[in-house]
Amino acid sequence: MLEVRDLVKEFGGLHAVDGVSFTLAAHTITGLIGPNGAGKTTLFNTIAGVHRPTSGTISFLGRAIGGESPHRIFDAGLVRTFQIPRPFAGMTVLENVMLVPSAQAGERFWNNWFGRTRVRAQESAVRERAREVLQFVGLERLAGEFAKNLSGGQQKLLELARVLMAEPQLILLDEPGAGVNPTLLVTIMDKLHELHARGITFLIIEHNMDLVMQLCDPVLVLAQGRLLLEGKPEIVRNDPRVLEAYLGGAPQ
Ligand SMILES: Nc1ncnc2c1ncn2[C@@H]1O[C@H](COP(=O)(O)OP(=O)(O)O)[C@@H](O)[C@H]1O
Ligand SMILES: [Mg+2]
Repeated sequence: MLEVRDLVKEFGGLHAVDGVSFTLAAHTITGLIGPNGAGKTTLFNTIAGVHRPTSGTISFLGRAIGGESPHRIFDAGLVRTFQIPRPFAGMTVLENVMLVPSAQAGERFWNNWFGRTRVRAQESAVRERAREVLQFVGLERLAGEFAKNLSGGQQKLLELARVLMAEPQLILLDEPGAGVNPTLLVTIMDKLHELHARGITFLIIEHNMDLVMQLCDPVLVLAQGRLLLEGKPEIVRNDPRVLEAYLGGAPQ
């Protein structure tokens, strides 16, 4: 589904991503771990079009997307959570979900050259879809609540609902488990499992090892901008090179 080859992203002289190659198979949940400063977020941002690659190639469903705008990559069905504007605190949960256009419809969606009747029909279709998505993540009872009143875990579920509005094929999630209480963490993991079963592919940055171990296979380990190793979660967890990288040792 996604093929990254010899990807380099430099900031000034710093090689934040330093020659990374990997392939994501369709219908997998791949974990991306590594110590702070390893280049995980930069890798995400470069894949999502936020940064232009210094060199290397990225192809998504056979199409070269390296250097394309985030908007076009979003429209192609590759969605990173941050690409969607953060929830508006003063809007309701339902309104926040309705604001995300479907990736398929793209920017044409909001153009109203096709007339007001169509727009109204589209709007009610969006509302219906938004309600379905809220039901899926379990936030339907909070549809009328202001987004600012949600807990950390509920905010993550809202973020997931908003991502789902785009009907993506590949979702890049940055720390879905951060700041989430244990009960909601189980809910989030269940939802990710279910979406995976429905055919969505994921690449997930996560520090919570329980989540990585239960959800991800394979796991990619990034250290100092380079792919240190890739493998099954239990193999990665027990590899001394990974521990060494987290302790600040240089990768072999
Ligand atoms: N926009 C930027 N400008 C300059 N340096 C950056 C920028 N973004 C990240 N970096 C640097 O790139 C390296 C990798 O950062 P980052 O991708 O955020 O790592 P991680 O997400 O794994 O913690 C760090 O040294 C960081 O300081
Ligand atoms: Mg980061």
